[in-house]
Amino acid sequence: MTSELFSPLSLRSGQVLRNRIAKAAMEENMAADGQLPGHELFGLYRRWAEGGTGLLITGNVMVHAEALTGPAGVVLDEAAPLEPFTEWAKAGQSGGGKIWMQINHPGRQIASDMPGVVWGPSAVGVDLGKHSSRFGRPVAMTAEQIGETVTRYAVTAQRAEEAGFDGVEIHAAHGYLLSQFLSPLVNKRTDQWGGSLENRARMLLDIVRAVRAAVSPSFAVAVKLNSADFQRGGFDADDARQVIAMLAPLGVDLVELSGGSYESPAMSGRPADARTQAREAYFLDLAKDLVRTSPLPLMLTGGITRRETAERVLASGVAVIGMGTALAVTPDLPERWRTRREAERQLRPVTWSDKALASAAGMAQVRHQMRRIARGSRPTPGTHPAVALLAERRKQRRALRRYRSWLETVRRAA
Ligand SMILES: Cc1cc2nc3c(=O)[nH]c(=O)nc-3n(C[C@H](O)[C@H](O)[C@H](O)COP(=O)(O)O)c2cc1C
Repeated sequence: MTSELFSPLSLRSGQVLRNRIAKAAMEENMAADGQLPGHELFGLYRRWAEGGTGLLITGNVMVHAEALTGPAGVVLDEAAPLEPFTEWAKAGQSGGGKIWMQINHPGRQIASDMPGVVWGPSAVGVDLGKHSSRFGRPVAMTAEQIGETVTRYAVTAQRAEEAGFDGVEIHAAHGYLLSQFLSPLVNKRTDQWGGSLENRARMLLDIVRAVRAAVSPSFAVAVKLNSADFQRGGFDADDARQVIAMLAPLGVDLVELSGGSYESPAMSGRPADARTQAREAYFLDLAKDLVRTSPLPLMLTGGITRRETAERVLASGVAVIGMGTALAVTPDLPERWRTRREAERQLRPVTWSDKALASAAGMAQVRHQMRRIARGSRPTPGTHPAVALLAERRKQRRALRRYRSWLETVRRAA
């Protein structure tokens, strides 16, 4: 049955989303001192909350202080004070919708200038051609490190609930640690975490079980999964179908489908393997097949900017549509759709031929808009990508100095 955009959705946990529109996770790079949420994040989430989405999923929050996707990332571990997170949750709920925290470990996708650890299932580095040295060289995780990391996800989830969040989304897409374990191209292990799909999915499934055991039954638990990695010989749609079936008995509320990684940035519409070239709803073809067999409700994210596209996605059986870029340009887009209006402006497209650089510039443009919204200003979607990228790099250098000195303090305290 086709769902209407503004119809509610009841989830397995009993939680009800008031409509089918979600803001997908977008790493904001806005951590205040101590890698904590601060005023910028509160302002941003209040604006989004007023905009009418049923669900806000935060940008990825790190489960391990030694492993950040970037130096301005938020960390929620056992040592973090809870109060800033409580305020973040309240900001996200201030418009009557739900807020889930996305939780993540980057594994090998860590820039080479970052302090801390670079871990992966195997010692296989990110291959970005001439940009490969941007990432650190990973070491293969020991069984003990895998066990500790599973526990870290459960601790973060339990604390997110304590802070007042309505759920967590475990990030197993986009080439981060859990996606690395799932990928036969990155995971070359020969023990219980490598080889068959059951083994490659073991860490993800253990995390879902540990998280479920650490939180209340009414707290939502979701997973973001690649519908495919868009690399030959990589995790593909049939693997995704099987992993969804493995997740079903574990008490998962929703699976969000995306695709790609730094090596093949399909999530921004630029896969290395150009089989997916549709400009809107990038992953809809793969999702249609997955919907037919999925025992769990699915959310689809990537390339949705217009109501008509969103309705086409729902008509294919998808339960929730996710948007990132469109909501960074028009934070009240759901409210507009409800009153039959569309966005007035779109983000200036990045047409550079270097896919890795174009993807980074596209993300910088989106973050530029998020910073403006956080300050209460109007988005400026016409900003040149090079300008946004340079500003972002300056901010990242400052954030790196702060993160380094914070990490030193954390280590001394331990
Ligand atoms: C600036 C930026 C940051 C992102 N950070 C995350 C993240 O933290 N976690 C995640 O799962 N996806 C992240 N994404 C990917 C989005 O969730 C989404 O999958 C992607 O942008 C495609 O959707 P869109 O076309 O609606 O933007 C990010 C995207 C952008 C542009």
